[in-house]
Amino acid sequence: MYFAEDFIEKVRTQSDIISIISEYTNLVQKGRSYIGRCPFHNEKTPSFSVSEEQQMYHCFGCGVGGNVITFMMEKENLSFMETIEELATKANIPLEYDNNKKYNNREVLLKKDIIFELYKKAARFYYYNLTRNAPDYVKEYLKNRELTEQTIRLFGLGFSPNSYTALYKYLSKEDVTDEILIESGLCIRALNGKIYDRFINRLMFPIISPTKKVVAFGGRVFGDEKPKYLNSAENPIFHKSNTLYGLNLAKNANHDYYILVEGYMDVVAMHINGFTNTVASLGTAFTDGQAKLLKRYTKDIVILYDNDNAGQKATLKAIKILKDNDFSVKVLELKNAKDPDEFLTNFGSHKLKNMLLNAKSDVWYQISKIQNLYNLNNLPEKVKFLEQTAEIIANLSSSIEQQLYIDEISLRFTIDKKAIESEIKKKIINTKDNKIVYENHSKKVDLEVNLLSVLYHNPNLYNEISQYLFPELFTKGIKQNIAINLFNKESIDTKNYYSIEEQKIISSIIINENMQNIEFPVVYKMIKQFTKGLNLSYYKKLIYSDINPEKFNNLIKRKFETQKLNIIPKNG
Ligand code: UTP
Ligand code: MN
Repeated sequence: MYFAEDFIEKVRTQSDIISIISEYTNLVQKGRSYIGRCPFHNEKTPSFSVSEEQQMYHCFGCGVGGNVITFMMEKENLSFMETIEELATKANIPLEYDNNKKYNNREVLLKKDIIFELYKKAARFYYYNLTRNAPDYVKEYLKNRELTEQTIRLFGLGFSPNSYTALYKYLSKEDVTDEILIESGLCIRALNGKIYDRFINRLMFPIISPTKKVVAFGGRVFGDEKPKYLNSAENPIFHKSNTLYGLNLAKNANHDYYILVEGYMDVVAMHINGFTNTVASLGTAFTDGQAKLLKRYTKDIVILYDNDNAGQKATLKAIKILKDNDFSVKVLELKNAKDPDEFLTNFGSHKLKNMLLNAKSDVWYQISKIQNLYNLNNLPEKVKFLEQTAEIIANLSSSIEQQLYIDEISLRFTIDKKAIESEIKKKIINTKDNKIVYENHSKKVDLEVNLLSVLYHNPNLYNEISQYLFPELFTKGIKQNIAINLFNKESIDTKNYYSIEEQKIISSIIINENMQNIEFPVVYKMIKQFTKGLNLSYYKKLIYSDINPEKFNNLIKRKFETQKLNIIPKNG
């Protein structure tokens, strides 16, 4: 089922981008735009800008951008069609499907939908291979790990056969290109140019989104080979740092708290033992994106990570991220088992349930970790212990909570309350000074996009710029199309571009305050940088591929004009 382009446009224009984005981050009006903290990356100072007039957003920190459609697609991980349905419902527009419509943009437009479809087919294929077609060593493995038929069904587990191309052959029967199979992360192109399956001879764990769609796989080897687990590569429907394993199941019941574990097998073991409020962070690195996702379902978390060093370090990091996102956090430390899966096998669910009741608060967990570092019978060490403990208490936002911990610490460690309090005061002053967080904006500068933005915002520079640049120099596709618009002094037809990549380019052109009121000498440097990357053979190719004689002559002329660049002095 499809929507007609007119309908899509109607939904886009009738959706209120400000109010929709406001559901995810606090926006404050500033001049002609709204500014807030970016909902796509973790930041303390706002660099996310939404233009009401343009109905677009752009983040100067991480570079995301687009319109209301791409926002919903990215934030909720919806397919294009679902996004339109969702937005139409929000705006009270009755759905009108149109199945006859031919789309010029169909390939790009529905890329996400195609990848969703591929994952669905792959999941069925792997499931079939596990349940109907598994070799003996696989059956043996299932038995050893107590993975019953029921568990396999609940988690949709699968088996990727011991063949280089089993899935590739299966999916090639569909009408899809090799490129999209590679982009989906299900297949890879080897150096010899041939295409192979990414997952070979592994037990497959489909990662299912809260909207019940398979978005990725984790695949485990049956022996000791490395890597033990392989995950789908990042692709348009899967961003590891915004995904939690098991959330599709956990969200079904209204749990008052969630349990956070590390691994696939931990989630499986927890769920079949009745702890259906368990999700995994796909390895040890819990991220801010995962915290934001969890926040929609709960405010209370118990961290139950592996009992090794890596697990403990990861626990401290996860506490920090969860606290930054205003969760109330407890930590359950395992004894005599390396992870929850092993614990349940050895000691059963009853024992774990009791332990959960006594899980430590995040503060006590952190204090106990500091306590392990020092000998409290040694005075200088006890001072260090107090300093670090004070830092934790200083970071608590509630003064009542602070007071309760001060009382308790004073009692437990026989430290004078006044001493603790004055130490905390020092820390509070220090942390206030240090509150500015320097973030690593690893945003790649796209010269082409910047130049287009210059043109867009500074029509007065058109004559100067067009002496050096012409649309054909820009990368074919959206950038060149926009260049053609701008060089023809037309407006950009934003609604023709649906894909997330395209919307990101458009928003960086339109919402780019750095390029407003720019002086030509700066633009000149950009042009020089840009043309430096284009060599003579590129110009030749441009010229010979063009059959229009008038254009041909122009290009030759411009070729020489552009070469002028090299004889203008450096400081010009
Ligand atoms: P573990 O090695 O603790 O996995 O890694 P596990 O779930 O206990 O696995 P089993 O019991 O040996 O089968 C925890 C998680 O880290 C990620 C996976 O998400 C895994 O479940 N991981 C681990 C990887 O992504 N790659 C690896 O090579 C290893
Ligand atoms: Mn483990």
